[in-house]
Amino acid sequence: MSKTGFRLENAWHPIEGDPSGGFVFTLVNLTDTPISDFKLAYTALTRVMDNPACENATFLLRNANFHQYAPPAGFVLEPGASWRFTVRGLWRPAKHRTDGAKSAYLTFSDGTHHTIDVADLMLEGRVSEPQKPLLPEGRVTEPFSLLPWPKQAKLQAGETPVVLYPAAGSTLADVKAMDTVLSLHRRLFSAAHQPFSLIAVEQGKAIRFQQSGSLAAEAYELTFAEDEIVLAYGGDAGRQYGLTALAQLHDGARRNAALFRFPGSGTITDEPRYGWRGCHLDVSRQFAPAPDVLRLIDILAWYKMNVFHWHLTDDEAWRFEVRAYPQLTTVGVMRGPDEPMLPQLGNAAEPVGGFYTQADVAAIIAHASELNVEVVPEVDIPGHSTAILAALPELVDGQEAPDSYRSVQGFPNNALNPAIEETYVFLGKVFDEMVELFPSKLIHIGGDEVADNTWMASPLARKLMEKEGLDGTFGLQSHFMKRIQKMLAERGRSMAGWDEVSHGGGVDPDGTLLMAWRAPEVGVELAKEGYDVVMTPGQAYYLDMVQDEAWQEPGASWAGTVPPHHTYHYEAVGDFPEDLKPRLRGVQACIWTEHFLNRNYFNHLVFPRLPAVAEAAWTPRERKDWDRFSALVRLSPTL
Ligand code: ACM
Repeated sequence: MSKTGFRLENAWHPIEGDPSGGFVFTLVNLTDTPISDFKLAYTALTRVMDNPACENATFLLRNANFHQYAPPAGFVLEPGASWRFTVRGLWRPAKHRTDGAKSAYLTFSDGTHHTIDVADLMLEGRVSEPQKPLLPEGRVTEPFSLLPWPKQAKLQAGETPVVLYPAAGSTLADVKAMDTVLSLHRRLFSAAHQPFSLIAVEQGKAIRFQQSGSLAAEAYELTFAEDEIVLAYGGDAGRQYGLTALAQLHDGARRNAALFRFPGSGTITDEPRYGWRGCHLDVSRQFAPAPDVLRLIDILAWYKMNVFHWHLTDDEAWRFEVRAYPQLTTVGVMRGPDEPMLPQLGNAAEPVGGFYTQADVAAIIAHASELNVEVVPEVDIPGHSTAILAALPELVDGQEAPDSYRSVQGFPNNALNPAIEETYVFLGKVFDEMVELFPSKLIHIGGDEVADNTWMASPLARKLMEKEGLDGTFGLQSHFMKRIQKMLAERGRSMAGWDEVSHGGGVDPDGTLLMAWRAPEVGVELAKEGYDVVMTPGQAYYLDMVQDEAWQEPGASWAGTVPPHHTYHYEAVGDFPEDLKPRLRGVQACIWTEHFLNRNYFNHLVFPRLPAVAEAAWTPRERKDWDRFSALVRLSPTL
């Protein structure tokens, strides 16, 4: 039974001559009360164009993914009856069951709003194939549970010790490192057998620690013998990775003894393939409460990933406390029918917010730092700034026509204006607080998806273009970015950004790191221009992309279909010429959350592709093995 008394059913169907097809909506009244004089709102990523053709409804409003309609005048929806209407004029065809309404509510004539139930987008006029298995059963030729697989491993199976413990004479730092990895394992697998004990245990095995000047900071070596295990490491990170390998070996042998054994003898010689092994999380589109962020960081650490790129702001919401501008997390975070920002992406009648206090941020950074994960914060500017502009309307050029440009996500006039001096005052104060909070040398300033004709209707921007001899939107963007780069440098920080930061003249590439997301070949172009590059191509590493073409698979599809085996096999180094390879700093998974309405969607889309990126980031190409990975990844923790 619907929880709300009403249910909205929706379906997409192909239309001859219109590749975008059309929607059919049916509102079912399960209550015992007739309703009339109401409006229906829903949020959907398959947006309608400005004047969609409706049958049996009047189109009222669209703002990004928010849509609103009314039934014909005088219409009464009786108990048990339904209201059916059709909509044509979509921006693109729906391809998957998550492309329809993600949330909906009714507004009655007294101004009250009522959330209604909505489920999958149905497919009409075509066969809706069932979901296929995305992961083969897999096969291990060596019975050891290690993910990512090490650079070199020559191991022979032995008995599984009950636990591992620090050998007599271990330093406090060594024991603390064991305690950290033990706690990590306990958090991730709270019902599994503990791998370590801090004190000697009969039937356990001792680990003897050896700091080694000849190993790199992230490198480690493990030597397994009858009486003890020797862990040699370069630095703190290497020691943690060695201990994590031991915890994984032990955990696998305990949880799936049919497949996995603990080594009795042999060696592991290991270090990462790439220095940047990142994972991004968009907390703007869907807020992730602090415990979820902590758990994701735990999962990154378990897979020896070392960068958490925290996408803290976007059009939909600003998500961290800035003391100088409290309105960012009062106005700039709230979405609801009567809030300055309308519901989007699964929001309905209840206003929603959610942000991190500075204490939350500090606790998350401390947690990450203990696990050798660097937190790189992102404030996405100058585009993607609807939330900032809702909170600080004084940053808008009052002479600029409203709705003079729209972002690719359909937000009108959503960019900070480079010609308004107050923009820099605002950002200066934000950066001041960020550098106090975030130790990362890099601050990510976004820079993506500024729409083609942005600012062209702003007289102030036009004047600046003329004065500085700037060429159009991207000349202005480059002018803005150069000032931002200077502001970061004045605060001792360097710039990270998405690949379009290089447009219109870009910025000084020295010390600047850009993320190639639009296509793999963009990375090589950036490296040629002198930027450091992290590869995050949507076609392989965007974990919100669907994993199969079946209608039933949830997720986005604008960058194509990204099956787990493609994510696993994709080689970021691809076409990088030899002389540009040093510019390739590493790889990163991106978790964009438009479709992540709940934890089940998160886990379905993120696993096993996040561990696939982790292995691609760490393991040499010649040691990657899809069958082994498929068998091993079944032990993965989830959120
Ligand atoms: C992006 O996906 N807009 C970086």
